[in-house]
Amino acid sequence: MGTSNPVRSAKTKADILIHAAAQLLTLTGGPQRGNDLGRLGLTEDGAMVVGGGQILAVGTTSQIRRRYEASTEIDASDRVVLPGLIDPHTHLIWAGDRAAEFEMRLAGKTYLEILAAGGGILSTVRRTRQASVEDLTGEGRQRLQRMLAHGTTTVEAKTGYGLETQAELRMLQAILRLDDEGPVELAPTFLGAHAVPPEYQGRPDVYAEHLCREMLPAVRAWWLENAGERPLPFVDVFCETGAFDLAQSRRILETARELGFPLKVHADEFDGLGGTGLAVELGAASADHLVRTPAKDIRALGLSKTVAVALPCTPFGLAQRDYTPARAILEAGGILALASDLNPGTAWCESMQFTIALACRYLQLTPAQAIAAATINAAAAIGRADRVGSLEPGKQADFLLLDTADYRHLGYRFGTNLVTTVVKAGRIVFQAHQGP
Ligand code: NIG
Ligand code: FE
Repeated sequence: MGTSNPVRSAKTKADILIHAAAQLLTLTGGPQRGNDLGRLGLTEDGAMVVGGGQILAVGTTSQIRRRYEASTEIDASDRVVLPGLIDPHTHLIWAGDRAAEFEMRLAGKTYLEILAAGGGILSTVRRTRQASVEDLTGEGRQRLQRMLAHGTTTVEAKTGYGLETQAELRMLQAILRLDDEGPVELAPTFLGAHAVPPEYQGRPDVYAEHLCREMLPAVRAWWLENAGERPLPFVDVFCETGAFDLAQSRRILETARELGFPLKVHADEFDGLGGTGLAVELGAASADHLVRTPAKDIRALGLSKTVAVALPCTPFGLAQRDYTPARAILEAGGILALASDLNPGTAWCESMQFTIALACRYLQLTPAQAIAAATINAAAAIGRADRVGSLEPGKQADFLLLDTADYRHLGYRFGTNLVTTVVKAGRIVFQAHQGP
């Protein structure tokens, strides 16, 4: 008694304090539907504090400084700060490449002709079946490192180049290993229905039946043994001429749903077979591609929670003219997201920045709309909008600093990497080389 308490700092201690951002984009308020797309939640002279890997508070520099102090400070003057980009549709894991087919396409062969002749996806299947889990993990890791350097902090990753149980499981194992390694977080998808494998050539119904009776239950059992606490992966189907028709797609997706898998659909990439309507009917998390989507399926999408994932790198990669009718999807009230579709055939693109640049030009999105489609709405496409995709208290601290003071440079500029710093779960995981 008698001695007074020492004066204590009233400030809360945090791990990282980012301050003085020219523009801080929070993207708060959940997934952005229809013409509501593009609410950035922009704060000038923005600041944010991070502790225990999570966002503690967001505001202006003076608001945040009044309440917090941190061991690490990041000066974001002349920078844009925004959520880590999310890539909700990739074929991250494969072996080999298809440079020769790229040349064949330049000479006039179409993608579906090459597939029908046993090339395309099937040529990657031949290479991938020969690869070990270590090979697949090694190649995937390098791609993920380049994606991270371009600002992608969460990536959906599909199987689909094995097309037999053991080879598909090796792909899943590579995805789980890379997710365990970090820093990029992966959302796994089983795409055993990516193509009809050579053993079942001309017998897609028989392969679809094999998928339903043997492969899906085997994947489920393997997952429960090997994937720890993780929820079941998505199951996806390539509903397309030359792959799986609508009835086969329905059979596979309904079986997957009965087994408890969440769903995704590759729909309307080349032909509008009704895959989008099916995705909506079955409550799929997303319907992806949507280049040839019939008007009634766009209307259905607009009334549903199924996210429309546009993949502008794919028509670009195939030098096609038609892209996803994004404005019609927004008019209908749909939740629109963007993804790279990273794969060795149609779109070897590891940059969501480039995807955004294409979306501004060919989907007629504003930079603000494209950014929302590549963050909070992309998170919704993989069922993670409660944890990533925006900067708000309680969410995981995944964010980027850009070498620009104006967010519109994302979209406006292309072919250079604007990312200077990437933070994943509160840890600085990438920093661009500064100076000469
Ligand atoms: O999304 N369309 C099917 N799958 C990929 C292409 C895969 C490949 O050609 O290897 C796509 O475009
Ligand atoms: Fe794809």
